[in-house]
Amino acid sequence: MKICHTIDEMRAVRVAARGVGKTIGLVPTMGALHEGHLSLVRMAKAQCDLVVVSIFVNPLQFGPNEDLAKYPRNFDRDCDLLEREGVDFILAPSVEEMYPAGAVTYVTVESLSDKLCGRSRPGHFRGVTTVVSKLFNIVQPDRAFFGQKDAAQSTIIRRMVRDLNIPVQVVIGAIVREPDGLAMSSRNAYLDVPQRKSALVLHRSLQTVQALFDQGERRVQTLIEAGKQAFGRDPSVQLDYLEIVDPETLDPVDDLSRGALVAVAAFVGKARLIDNLVLPGNT
Ligand code: PAJ
Repeated sequence: MKICHTIDEMRAVRVAARGVGKTIGLVPTMGALHEGHLSLVRMAKAQCDLVVVSIFVNPLQFGPNEDLAKYPRNFDRDCDLLEREGVDFILAPSVEEMYPAGAVTYVTVESLSDKLCGRSRPGHFRGVTTVVSKLFNIVQPDRAFFGQKDAAQSTIIRRMVRDLNIPVQVVIGAIVREPDGLAMSSRNAYLDVPQRKSALVLHRSLQTVQALFDQGERRVQTLIEAGKQAFGRDPSVQLDYLEIVDPETLDPVDDLSRGALVAVAAFVGKARLIDNLVLPGNT
């Protein structure tokens, strides 16, 4: 496994791979890897000749009062995990390498970027789409792998790829959960033991919505209210949003016949956690 700290090193790898006709899969991450990330790595290994995992805590997608400085970093452990998965290359650039002085160009997916997390985290998705387009330009992968856990992010990246005709196939992997249902996240590391218990409420609220839906409930407001009520009155939990939206436009829907995304975000202590569930449409 080779670790590339510079864009030039990564480009040389890309040129060599292309020369011998190998396909490249890219798994973009911010490190602090867990089974959710590794599930994407395994998909990439299965579908591509060579796998690149990028590890870059992207300052551009953090707001001024967010957790950039505290974001968990464990590069050596991440390298060990990726080596064991048989990853070929890690791209781990410095902030200066990715954003040299005077970098003022951004990629914005208009309108989608201020929905869901974009509403409570202004500029977040612009940071994501800018860094992901840079990673696409640097690595030029044939396929890139993202998780359904960040459903809005996946939608926005697919739209960016379509709108800008980026020659990459975007593949979305299912949400990986802890045995008790909590969606895996690098930010779960912020939770103390009582908060870790409280955090289960995100999944529980989605299960409440799923159960009602399975019983035939199709009134969107009823489903939303039931999901919100599942939050109860835990003082360490603060619901940010629970919405039922169109998975392509991220706009609220009032008709579930074409399927919908139920997305939830909440602060548990200082950790901002998200989760979601896809309701199938009528077929
Ligand atoms: P990060 O939070 O490190 O996540 C990297 C990838 O892993 C994302 O595509 C995310 O959706 C996926 N992922 C995280 N938790 C998962 C889980 N429990 N199950 C399945 N997939 C999961 O998302 C980012 O980094 C950044 O925004 C990035 C795309 C790297 C741009 O900076």
